[in-house]
Amino acid sequence: MTHFLDIHTTDPAELRAMIDSARAMKNARQGRPKGAPDDDKPLDGCMVALIFEKPSTRTRVSFDVGVRQMGGQTMVLSGSDMQLGHGETIADTARVLSRYVDLIMIRTFEEETLLEMAEYASVPVINGLTNRTHPCQIMADIMTYEEHRGPIAGRKVVWSGDGNNVCASFLHAAGQFGFDLTFTGPQTLDPEREWIEFARSKGVNVAIERDPAKAVEGADLIVTDTWVSMHDPESAKERRHNQLRAYQVNEALMAKAKPDCLFMHCLPAHRNDEATSAVMDGPHSVIFDEAENRLHAQKAIMRWALGK
Ligand code: CP
Ligand code: NVA
Repeated sequence: MTHFLDIHTTDPAELRAMIDSARAMKNARQGRPKGAPDDDKPLDGCMVALIFEKPSTRTRVSFDVGVRQMGGQTMVLSGSDMQLGHGETIADTARVLSRYVDLIMIRTFEEETLLEMAEYASVPVINGLTNRTHPCQIMADIMTYEEHRGPIAGRKVVWSGDGNNVCASFLHAAGQFGFDLTFTGPQTLDPEREWIEFARSKGVNVAIERDPAKAVEGADLIVTDTWVSMHDPESAKERRHNQLRAYQVNEALMAKAKPDCLFMHCLPAHRNDEATSAVMDGPHSVIFDEAENRLHAQKAIMRWALGK
């Protein structure tokens, strides 16, 4: 079964092929209405379940539109409305859904839920975000970087703020696509050691620099994300803001990076917390290209998973 569970567990050559395929599909659609089907309709006859245990705008809409463009059909399911949210096991849910649908995308809390779904499903499962990782987002981000600046291999990416699930998938991508990553943030919010070690094991430089001004020297890309993720307790908010204020991405910080440095944020953002509107709407920002590329990257991921 070809699941897309994480970037570090997927073969680098296959990841590269997905990015290339996404770019080709995007180019082939230039100027078409969003609802017009792709010429080849590779998912013709396929039914895709999109399960959400957490809120979503981009993931929900981009997967849904992507499946339809490829000629397939979707059902968007809320975890709390399913028996899954009322005590049915993940294993049983996976086996039942596999009798109805050809592909499952799930956004969930615990990584174990995703892994159990994949273990018991007899159709491919795609990770639409867990507390630990967000691989589809980073595939779109790699595609976006390369559209603007060419190959990401050998570049310096700086992650500023919370070493969260999105940061984790950036570390995986650093190892698989061959770029260096510097994390800048408070020690208590460092990324997981395991992910740092993964990237280093692939021969890329992973640095931790507490001073954001030093961290961004020579940066080709600065990335940040919300200071409080969906799985974080609301009670963490005030402490997080105090800890992370120094790591806001603002024009002064951007000015210390390379002149052609890009800025990314997976969205949704809390404007003027983790990044200022001046940066988000400024000349370095590619945030809406990232959002668009979720659509194209995920179409490539789905085709790969289904062998279509
Ligand atoms: N970036 C992202 O995954 O956005 P949503 O939470 O809106 O899906
Ligand atoms: N880190 C954020 C990403 C949202 C797309 C969260 O998990 O809430």
